Amino acid sequence: MPEIRPKVYVTRRLPQEGLDLLAASCDVEVNPEDRPLTRAELLAAVADAEGVIGLLTERIDAAFLDAAPKLRGYANYAVGFDNIDVAEATRRGIPVSNTPDVLTTATAELAWTLLLAAARRVVETDAVMRSGSWTGWGPLQFLGADVTGRTLGLVGAGRIGTAMARMSRGFDMPVLYTSSSGRRNEILERELKAELVPFEELLARSDFVSVHTPLTPSTRHLFRAETLRLMKPTAILVNTARGPVVKEDDLAAALRQGVIAGAGLDVYENEPRLAQGLAELKNVVLLPHVGSATFAARRDMALLAARNLLAMLLGGTPPTCLNPDVLR
Ligand code: DGY
Repeated sequence: MPEIRPKVYVTRRLPQEGLDLLAASCDVEVNPEDRPLTRAELLAAVADAEGVIGLLTERIDAAFLDAAPKLRGYANYAVGFDNIDVAEATRRGIPVSNTPDVLTTATAELAWTLLLAAARRVVETDAVMRSGSWTGWGPLQFLGADVTGRTLGLVGAGRIGTAMARMSRGFDMPVLYTSSSGRRNEILERELKAELVPFEELLARSDFVSVHTPLTPSTRHLFRAETLRLMKPTAILVNTARGPVVKEDDLAAALRQGVIAGAGLDVYENEPRLAQGLAELKNVVLLPHVGSATFAARRDMALLAARNLLAMLLGGTPPTCLNPDVLR
């Protein structure tokens, strides 16, 4: 009997290890161009696919599923899955997965990078050096925020928030956190004496607020003019989660008016565009959604996505399926 090799479509070139794993038992086609597909190209590309690995920038909704009538599994190359209509996939009996754990450390490290860079004005002062306009050492130049001993507030203390909190140990920071489910994070409470507090209290007490909540209808625009006003005027906001958790126009205004002291952003409301005026501000550090962009994390994401898809197509238990009930 000829071997049955499921047809898999991968919407963007991924680290080779993941593609090799898939190619050992599937017929794999990869978007040949290193650019996002247009929606029309995406829908056309998946017409014959039994499995798809896709990106956080692609909407996996009813129209996508209609365009892929042979689909038996979808693996998201991201931990966040606000781009997937999981309920619709479940209704159609299609398993979908994401990539938790493998990018936790990389993303927490990037949140720290942003926190420190914003606190000590790294990007702004680097620009001064490059422009040749530095006039020499001065006692009042480029003063920034102290970190050690200051309060770290985590909006959401799941895997990445927990990793970020653990990394704060060297800075001896009191840790506050919120929990949308109301569940306590016993690890953080035991190891760091972290305190679960209401959102408004966290904003009022924190010197650094780091966002680690998924994007859901209730977290969209959680940070907007009225909530940014509850933060200390000396506070710094860090977002490595999802852009729309922060109303970016309001944040730009708050940074301009000194409502808060600074921000470090890796994610944006309308990627790849920035809110008007944001790029002109000196008190914000802007990175291009690189939270998981380390060699190991991106390789492990590719391997995990491939393992999920192989299990969906060939049998077995996908390691990180979001709707495992469809497999029963
Ligand atoms: C994710 O995985 O959700 C990140 O935003 C991209 O790595």
